[in-house]
Amino acid sequence: MACIGMTVFSAEVWKRFSLPSMAHFLGFGGYVPERIMTNDDWSQLLDTSDEWITQRTGIKRRRIAAPDETTLTLARDAAVVAIEDASLGAGDIDEIILATDTPEMYTPDTAALLQESLECRNIPTYDLGGSGCAGFVQALDIARARIAFEPKRILVVGVELLTRMIDWKDRSTAVLFGDGAGAVVLGPGPGRGHLLDVVAGTEGRYAGILTLASGGTRNPFNELTLASGDYNRVIMDGRRVFTEAVRRMSEASAQVLEKIGKGVSDVALVIPHQANLRIIDAVRKRMGLAEDQVYVNVDEYGNTGSATVPFALYEAIGNGRVKDGDLVVLTAFGAGFHWAAAAVQF
Ligand code: ACO
Repeated sequence: MACIGMTVFSAEVWKRFSLPSMAHFLGFGGYVPERIMTNDDWSQLLDTSDEWITQRTGIKRRRIAAPDETTLTLARDAAVVAIEDASLGAGDIDEIILATDTPEMYTPDTAALLQESLECRNIPTYDLGGSGCAGFVQALDIARARIAFEPKRILVVGVELLTRMIDWKDRSTAVLFGDGAGAVVLGPGPGRGHLLDVVAGTEGRYAGILTLASGGTRNPFNELTLASGDYNRVIMDGRRVFTEAVRRMSEASAQVLEKIGKGVSDVALVIPHQANLRIIDAVRKRMGLAEDQVYVNVDEYGNTGSATVPFALYEAIGNGRVKDGDLVVLTAFGAGFHWAAAAVQF
């Protein structure tokens, strides 16, 4: 059975009311900056250690953007690869949806700047901003609905330049994050992976467990915020985030599988949000998955926010972990508290 709020639907009811998904993956792309920062590098700057970071998070290294790189350049470098992989040109893209918590600027949105940078036509573009690390999978859900109404080719990007926004003096959050971008082109088939279905949800009452609260109208950026040192402080109830992340990613994955009439044994690979190895392991155990059914690269890149899932997908296709015929589940959670899971048939 699948749940939305208090309502419980059977798989038969889902099938009766759902349109068959028209959305296919046409191309995949990714980009990470060259500079590698190890846990030992962090221990030169903060009172931390490789042992602590590895044991608590599984992270060994992360990438740090060069001074001349910005959210826009990371997004563009991933998008160019995805568009080329789809054997398309930028002029063939009909819409851009970009998920990020670390935009190029407050306004306009990064998607508009990306349109100009790629030299696309005057197509509609929008950011899915502030939706935390679930943003990319949520964007897939929006894109597939758009494609169901009109056969568009939509560039969907997840990008984050977190290391420029966080407090480098706060050891409890600084060591967790890295920079990167992932992108896909979705459109009507035939394609290389069929986006079969998506489930998504939000529990706004948990907004406070993971937040970067300064800079908006509640707490505008001014000399007081600057003096308080809070302008770049990520507030995180780590244990609460851990519990909710495990519960929501495993439930959403089970729900999307139920919607398509499949079970865990049918799944070749789950690509979860790469925040923390212990969260990924807990999801795996809760879902009853074998180790080789779950993709992990958090050790190499840390938590790159909304870029983790599209970048891992790009990497998994490139290194042969995703093959033709595979059923793949993408799942993520993030500040909001948002979560989503998508089923893709390769
Ligand atoms: N190095 C050394 N010690 C540290 C560090 C560090 N980098 N960070 C915190 N500590 C210390 C704390 O100060 C504390 O010390 P104290 O006991 O003397 O007060 C001690 O370690 C324990 O701190 P906790 O925060 O309780 O550590 P915990 O075991 O909960 O681990 C962690 C923290 C890894 C963040 C954990 O809560 C977790 O995995 N949470 C999941 C959330 C997560 O991964 N978020 C990522 C971003 S969210 C997202 O992607 C949507």
